[in-house]
Amino acid sequence: MDKKLITQRLILKSISEEDREFIFSEFSDAVISKYLYDEEPLTDIKQADEIIHTYTNPQHEGLYRWILVRKTDNRKMGTCGFHCFNKGEGTIEIGYDLQAEFCGHGYMQEALKEIIAYGIEIMPLKQIHAHIYVGNEKSIALSERLGFINSKKVYNYTLRDKDYLHLIYSLDCSSLKSMQ
Ligand SMILES: CC(C)(COP(=O)(O)OP(=O)(O)OC[C@H]1O[C@@H](n2cnc3c(N)ncnc32)[C@H](O)[C@@H]1OP(=O)(O)O)[C@@H](O)C(=O)NCCC(=O)NCCS
Repeated sequence: MDKKLITQRLILKSISEEDREFIFSEFSDAVISKYLYDEEPLTDIKQADEIIHTYTNPQHEGLYRWILVRKTDNRKMGTCGFHCFNKGEGTIEIGYDLQAEFCGHGYMQEALKEIIAYGIEIMPLKQIHAHIYVGNEKSIALSERLGFINSKKVYNYTLRDKDYLHLIYSLDCSSLKSMQ
């Protein structure tokens, strides 16, 4: 799905083949990957191509990934998007990652507000979930600033034979719709 979104400081461009080097650098980065326990860090640029093909396949409903591009200098800073859409239950998961040099400026908060508004406009969403590793304080703080609430449900990701406990934070979309 190709949909450009614009915020005060950012262009959110849909992921495309021209982003392969960026996607590789993003998901092979040790700092970014520190709390990402659903996949191993990338080691081959062909894996970046696979990610891009997954998100650009028009048959994959409810899969979106945008690149955060800073308006002032066109720098690509990170990505955000949706996956695991459950149409019947009206749920989807949100994911996000920002390179360390761009953290601490509110860029991701700005991006997520925009994609959440877009997501609830185009999909029949009741709840948006964020699966967050218990030790990922920055991500917990970000989700809480956006109105996500700790559902008290947990989920374990297993990587390299080790379990990593994740909290499931949830955003109630009906409350957002009534504010629109
Ligand atoms: C999670 C992650 C995106 C958070 O990045 P972030 O920059 O802290 O997120 P925000 O956009 O909410 O920015 C908030 C920070 O910017 C500051 N800020 C500065 N200017 C701001 C502005 N204009 N508006 C809002 N916040 C601003 C806030 O005070 C806050 O700083 P603090 O953390 O020192 O309190 C980042 O840590 C990351 O990518 N981590 C690696 C990948 C990852 O863990 N992804 C999530 C998996 S669940």
